[in-house]
Amino acid sequence: MKRDNLSILVIGQGGREHALVWKLKASPRVSRVYAAPGNPGMHGLAECVPIPVNDVHQLTHFALGHHVDLAVIGPEAPLALGLSDELMRLGIPVFGPTKAAASIETSKVWAKQFMSRHRIPTADYSIFTDVDAARRYVRVHGAPVVVKADGLAAGKGVVVAHTQDEAEQAVDTVSHLAEGGEIIVEDCLVGREASFLVITDGMSAVPLISAKDHKRAKDGDRGPNTGGMGAIVPAPLFDASLQARILEEIVMPAIRGLSAEGRRYVGVLYAGLMLTSQGPMALEFNARFGDPETQAILPMMESDLVDLLEAAVEGTCSSMTINWRDGACVCVVAASSGYPENPQLGKEIHIDADRAQKDGVLIFHAGTRLDGEKLMASEGRVLNLVSTGGSVEEAASGAYQGLSHVSFDGMWFRNDIGS
Ligand code: AMP
Ligand code: GLY
Repeated sequence: MKRDNLSILVIGQGGREHALVWKLKASPRVSRVYAAPGNPGMHGLAECVPIPVNDVHQLTHFALGHHVDLAVIGPEAPLALGLSDELMRLGIPVFGPTKAAASIETSKVWAKQFMSRHRIPTADYSIFTDVDAARRYVRVHGAPVVVKADGLAAGKGVVVAHTQDEAEQAVDTVSHLAEGGEIIVEDCLVGREASFLVITDGMSAVPLISAKDHKRAKDGDRGPNTGGMGAIVPAPLFDASLQARILEEIVMPAIRGLSAEGRRYVGVLYAGLMLTSQGPMALEFNARFGDPETQAILPMMESDLVDLLEAAVEGTCSSMTINWRDGACVCVVAASSGYPENPQLGKEIHIDADRAQKDGVLIFHAGTRLDGEKLMASEGRVLNLVSTGGSVEEAASGAYQGLSHVSFDGMWFRNDIGS
């Protein structure tokens, strides 16, 4: 029998965690949601506790003291610190992989070698510890080429170089970011990108609806890479046969491979894909929900999220299916001026919540903080405007309508999400 009156602890403070809190609180089985540290948008949904995401000791202490029934880890940093391992050691059910399983995201070198061992299609690559050797290699290889730093570099560790000069410069830039000193140089893949996420118990996988992230800052997918300026769900031209192929060739080999190597993976596994003319290939895996994909995926979900997360923890994913609503969902990110290079923070935010609600627009907070009564921008990505609709166009029009109900000095957004 399923238990009710659950207390859930969500770890994180961004738009992804606001969406998770919103969806979890909608479950009739959940009576209480805590968020650590949470954000002002969660007011009325969750009790925010001021513990930073990387304070493993305080987080586990809190979960134990408050009899949390399930901990849900949003960002990658606490996974890399072994928060899951520590919670599990104390007998607290946790949705999120162990430190060893999260290596699939936290070390790009490990992930590439893992993909090779399990024949998961990915770009051909070479790994260098010596910067000069990497430079010599790109001189011979030529452009375009992709240069990546090992480890978590907050999205700054990847350069897609289109010219020889850019490639050599990328080796220098990336070598400063490379944690373990290792640099990956890989072939540049051509195609459409898509994000495909599954919930897994380490044996079987329950697919989430496909999504497309818009990582570049400028309209038409130009400009520098960002944490993500918007997302559309489902991803364009993504059908059941493509999904089956991605599961068979990429996702299931990864899940089975992790288990076979003694790193059983429980949580959400995110495959960042390039859909090439030769078929889908893995660009990377993430060990967590995508941001901002999650903000557009969860409003499409009719099923109870807590049932799914629990199935992953209890090893019963094979018996789960998810009901999705028809149509589409679009998330547009409102960012601070200067983002991503030099975001100007601390501007006061105005939100007309009544009009947003009347228009059926969801507003997830990505980077906000309270200064007394005032809501202030505290990150480069500030708000997520989310709308569902009968089609991507309709959902996009709803999300852009929502943008007229929020404002702060210097606010900008991409104009082409979903168009
Ligand atoms: P990653 O963090 O590895 O997903 O890389 C960030 C972004 O860089 C991806 O979303 C792609 O847009 C781009 N990228 C990474 N690897 C490649 C590749 N091999 N070929 C083309 N683009 C890539
Ligand atoms: N949307 C990209 C990511 O979450 O890594």
